[in-house]
Amino acid sequence: MIHVTDDPIAERLYGDRYKTIKRYVDILATRGVEWGLIGPREVDRLWERHILNSAALESLIPQGSRVADVGSGAGLPGIPLAILRPDLDMTLIEPMLRRSNFLTEAVDELGLGDRVTVVRDRAETAGISVDVVVSRAVAKLATLVGWTANLFETTGCLLALKGQSADDEVAEARKELSKRHFSAEVLLVRADPSSEVTRAVRVRRAGTA
Ligand SMILES: C[S@@+](CC[C@H](N)C(=O)[O-])C[C@H]1O[C@@H](n2cnc3c(N)ncnc32)[C@H](O)[C@@H]1O
Repeated sequence: MIHVTDDPIAERLYGDRYKTIKRYVDILATRGVEWGLIGPREVDRLWERHILNSAALESLIPQGSRVADVGSGAGLPGIPLAILRPDLDMTLIEPMLRRSNFLTEAVDELGLGDRVTVVRDRAETAGISVDVVVSRAVAKLATLVGWTANLFETTGCLLALKGQSADDEVAEARKELSKRHFSAEVLLVRADPSSEVTRAVRVRRAGTA
């Protein structure tokens, strides 16, 4: 089994949960690559590009939230967030069988089964209600809003990790947002003062504080 090197930023951020996140990184670097969910060239950048990028959403999620990760793939951003925040109740929504099997095994091995659930479904038909929807690399913002609007209730929000394309995607989604009486803002976020800044789009019903 490959053992990825330690990451000092993640070590500081995760504290006594570092062992669990490191185990997850090991799973991504081995089974994730074998099952074709993670490209072999990603192995050297799992910490910065995948774990810390996912964890950057942490400060935007209220305490005790019910969260759904839509299009979770190999568990990103849902699993790094669930490990970092034991107060969260997390549902990983993923329609593809191989990916949802991977998620079920990972959740079990990481001992997260009491508050992380895997649902094999598409966002549009998942039929659950949460406080916060998180998502990364799944669809353009306009499409994502259409797929997830029913999941985040009247008082919740969608947090989409978008990087450089965030402003353009908000502009392109203007019609879809106004039709649903949603507002969107682009927020600069990072997991730790010494990690990379990325952009998240927060979508919520207009007038929600
Ligand atoms: C490019 S992957 C991104 C995976 C992960 N979020 C990440 O950042 O590594 C996109 C994922 O979205 C899933 N997906 C596609 N359409 C979806 C839908 N309508 N509802 C939920 N998931 C969907 C795919 O099966 C795939 O696993």
